Amino acid sequence: MIPVIADVDTGLDDALALAYLTATPHADLRAVTCVAGNTHVEQVVANTLTVLDGVGAPPVPVATGARRPLVSPPRHAHGFHGSDGLGDLALAPSGRRPVPGAAVDLIRTTIERSAEPVTLLALGPLTNVALFLRTFPDHAARLARIVFMGGALAVGNATPVAEFNAWHDPEALHVVLHSGLPVTMYGLEVFERPRLARSAVAAWASSPHPPHRFVGSLLTAYGRHDPLAAPVGIGDAGAACYLARPENGTVERLPTTVQLAGTGRGQTIVDRRARSGESEQHAGPGQAPPTDVVTEIDADAVAADFT
Ligand code: BDR
Ligand code: CA
Repeated sequence: MIPVIADVDTGLDDALALAYLTATPHADLRAVTCVAGNTHVEQVVANTLTVLDGVGAPPVPVATGARRPLVSPPRHAHGFHGSDGLGDLALAPSGRRPVPGAAVDLIRTTIERSAEPVTLLALGPLTNVALFLRTFPDHAARLARIVFMGGALAVGNATPVAEFNAWHDPEALHVVLHSGLPVTMYGLEVFERPRLARSAVAAWASSPHPPHRFVGSLLTAYGRHDPLAAPVGIGDAGAACYLARPENGTVERLPTTVQLAGTGRGQTIVDRRARSGESEQHAGPGQAPPTDVVTEIDADAVAADFT
């Protein structure tokens, strides 16, 4: 079982990832840290606790993290995820409470208490992760790796070229990419691919098992933006599935940076010329750190693993 800390901006698809991490025998969810992104951080915390209730998760510590990106003002995704960031499903508030202390403290203590290296899975803007790397670098060096959902090889969703998590806090992503730690990027192209048929979503939604019905309601809300009969994506949950079952993805080690200025702010630049060695001829030393980029995913296998 892979020990995991999930850093989330819950978010319908972050919620699907938490559901998966609670259920899979391949990962051990040790802690959850919350960051401003899809909605403001207090709402992210409330959503996260509600989701952990809804999926019947065992007790797991949840901490509050950054209220805003390092440099930019916060910009939420209420248009996509609803005014509460969780599909406006009128869910009952949770009796669970966040632990005292900040997200960076919970990441540190979780690493300290683990006998094995922990994987940090970032499913929102990278603000908490960057703050953790800067605050506790010795603990960061003990991580197995950082897997983040963010960035894109080509087309963005927040802007024509930038993916939301990268665009929300590009400086934080810069810190992560340049950390020298093992970093894996699960970008928008693979994020979009694993999908569930509407019949599968309907089966979740009508399950006699309350946690499965809860996941069905999340999937139904997440699918509102897709055409009526189209299969429904699992978004961030695909990154969790990849982390737990890396054999379902193909990774290439490629020089990767993020644009910090201009109209391309938040765009990830993944240099695929590295395959032919051309980038080594033309890029200056240290300009674009090597990053493990998930370039292919077995979408059917990931969808099957999710269900
Ligand atoms: C990412 O942005 C958020 O809306 C989703 O939760 C996901 O993490 C996709 O760009
Ligand atoms: Ca997210």
